[in-house]
Amino acid sequence: MSSDYNTIMAVKPKRFILILFLLLLFTISITAQNSTMKHILHQNYQLTGNQQVNNAGPFQFENSSTEFALEFVILDHVKSNVGFTVRNQNGKKLFQYLADSIRIAKTTVAAGSKVKSYWRHIVVNYFESGVEVFENGLQTVDFNTDTITAVNAIEINGIFDDEYGMQLNDMLKSFAFYPQPLSHESSTESYNTFITTLQNGMLAGAEPHFIVPPFLAMPTSKSVNINWETNLPSTAKVKFGKSYPLSDSVQIEKENTIQQIPLTGLEPGTNYYAEVDTAINGMQLPPVKLSFKTAPESSEAFRFGIIADTESRPFINTKIARHLWDNRPDFFLLLGDITDGGQKDFKDQWTFEFFTGMNSLMQRVPVIPVAGNGDADLYWFNRYFNPPTEEGFYKFSWSNTDFFVLHSSKSEEFEKGGKQYEWLENELEQSKAAWKIVLLHHAPYSSDEDDFGNSWEGPTDLGDPQIRKMVPLFDKYSVDFVMFGHLHCYERSWPLKNNKIDTQNGTAYLMTGGAGGSLENFAPHHTWFNAKTFRGYHYSIANVFENSIRIDTYNIDGSLIDFYEKQK
Ligand SMILES: [Fe+2]
Repeated sequence: MSSDYNTIMAVKPKRFILILFLLLLFTISITAQNSTMKHILHQNYQLTGNQQVNNAGPFQFENSSTEFALEFVILDHVKSNVGFTVRNQNGKKLFQYLADSIRIAKTTVAAGSKVKSYWRHIVVNYFESGVEVFENGLQTVDFNTDTITAVNAIEINGIFDDEYGMQLNDMLKSFAFYPQPLSHESSTESYNTFITTLQNGMLAGAEPHFIVPPFLAMPTSKSVNINWETNLPSTAKVKFGKSYPLSDSVQIEKENTIQQIPLTGLEPGTNYYAEVDTAINGMQLPPVKLSFKTAPESSEAFRFGIIADTESRPFINTKIARHLWDNRPDFFLLLGDITDGGQKDFKDQWTFEFFTGMNSLMQRVPVIPVAGNGDADLYWFNRYFNPPTEEGFYKFSWSNTDFFVLHSSKSEEFEKGGKQYEWLENELEQSKAAWKIVLLHHAPYSSDEDDFGNSWEGPTDLGDPQIRKMVPLFDKYSVDFVMFGHLHCYERSWPLKNNKIDTQNGTAYLMTGGAGGSLENFAPHHTWFNAKTFRGYHYSIANVFENSIRIDTYNIDGSLIDFYEKQK
C-alpha cells in the first residue's frame, strides 16, 4: 500500500497547501490597502489534475465605488489562440486577454512585451473618467471608456478551444481585485516583487519552501541521485532501506539551496524506499517519500519510458507523467528540450514549467535526462540532475542493455576526430551488451515538413546532415536503436544500414518528440525510410527481456498508436 501513488497525494496536498498559503501571504503583503481581494489560481502541481478550472468565480464582494483596479499575472507560453475574459455582475466585459492582445471594455490595446519571454504582469485602474493600464510596471495606455458601474462580483472564463487540455489556471497565475485604483508606485512595486520571485524561480515568497521537491535521477546498479531545491539553504536527513522502518540514513549538514545527494553503496537490482526530511533554520518542511529500483547487473526483464520535448506545457506533461506512472517503468528517458529555453537566465522555465508537470513522477520513477537545444548551456541541467559528467554525454547500463547519451547541441563534435564521435566509437567498441541504444536530442533521420528544407516545395535533407555524420558508427557497431526528439511528433524508421532499409541488420530510428512542446508536422510525401508517423502528444514504453525487445507508443489518451518488436 505504501508504494501506491495515491499515498503521495496524501502528503503532497499538505505541501501544496503550504505553498499556496505562502503565496497568498506574499501577494497580500505587496499592498497596504485594506479590503483587497486576491485570488491565486494555483500551480497545477499534482498528477490528479483535479485542481484545474476553466472558469473562476463569481467572486462576490462589497464595493460601492466605480473606481477600482484589477491585477493579473499571466503565463502565455503556447502558440495557440488562448486567453480569458473578465466580466462583472451584469455580464459586462471588463477585461479580455486573447492571443497577445488586451481588450478593456470595448477598446483593444496591443499588449506590450512579455517578461522572461512568456509572462505578463498587468494592472488596470478603472476611473469614472477612463482607464489606465500598467504592464510590467510601466504605464502603457490611458484612455476614455464607457462609464463603469460599481463592481460587486467578477467571473473569469477561459478561452482554450484551440489548445488541447489547457485550462484557466495554466495561464492565469494570479488575479486581484482592489476596491480603489492602484497608484503608479504600488503597481511598480507589485511588478518588482513579482519579477524578483520569477527571476529566482520561486513558487512562493520568503517563507521556507521547496522550489523543486526531492526527486530521483541517474539510477545505476549501486546508486541513485536525490536532488532538490529550497528557497533558503537547507540541511536534511535522507533515510533509505529495503522496507519500512528505513534502516539507513545520510545526514546532510552542509547547507545549500540546491542539494545533490548521491545515495551510494546500494545493491544491484533491488527495490528501495527513501524519505527526505529537510530543515530550513530549524523548521522542518513536509517529508517527501520516494521509491526506486537499482539497475540489475544480471540479465532480467525491465521496462523504461521514453519521452522528449516536455518544454512549455505542464498540463500535457502532467497527463503523460500519469500514463508513464501507470506502466510502472524502472526509469524513463527524457530526450532533450526539457525546457523550451531554460538556459541560465530562464530558471522559471524549470521551476514553473518542467518540474510542475514532472516532479511527482520523478519521486517514484528516476529520470535519465538528455540535453536538447533548449537546455544546451547545461547550466540548470547539471545543477538539477547531477549527471556522471558535466559535458552532457555519458553511458549507463541496465540489465543486458547499454545506453549511450550524446549532447547533440555540440554537433561539431559529431564527426571523425570530434570529441563525442571518438568517445562513442570507443564505448561501442568495448560494449558487450546484448542491446545497444544511442540517445540524443537532434534527428539523424526525419520526415519533418520544414526543419530541413521546405518539403511543400521540394526535397529536403530528411534530417540533420551534421547529426547524420554519426550514422557510420551506428552501422559499424550494429546499434539497435537511436532515440531522439526535437521534432514535436512521432516517427519510427525501418531498420536502416548504409542508408538503406535492412530489416535484418539495420538500426531503428525512433523520434518521440511529443511531450509538452508545440506540435509539428510531416512532409507531404512518404519518405523512403519511414515506417510510422503520428502527429500528436505521445509517450513510448519499452520492454526488454534477454533477446527480445518491444516498444509500444501511445497517444495522450493512452491508446496504442504504434508497436515495434525485435528479436535477436
Ligand atoms: Fe529541440
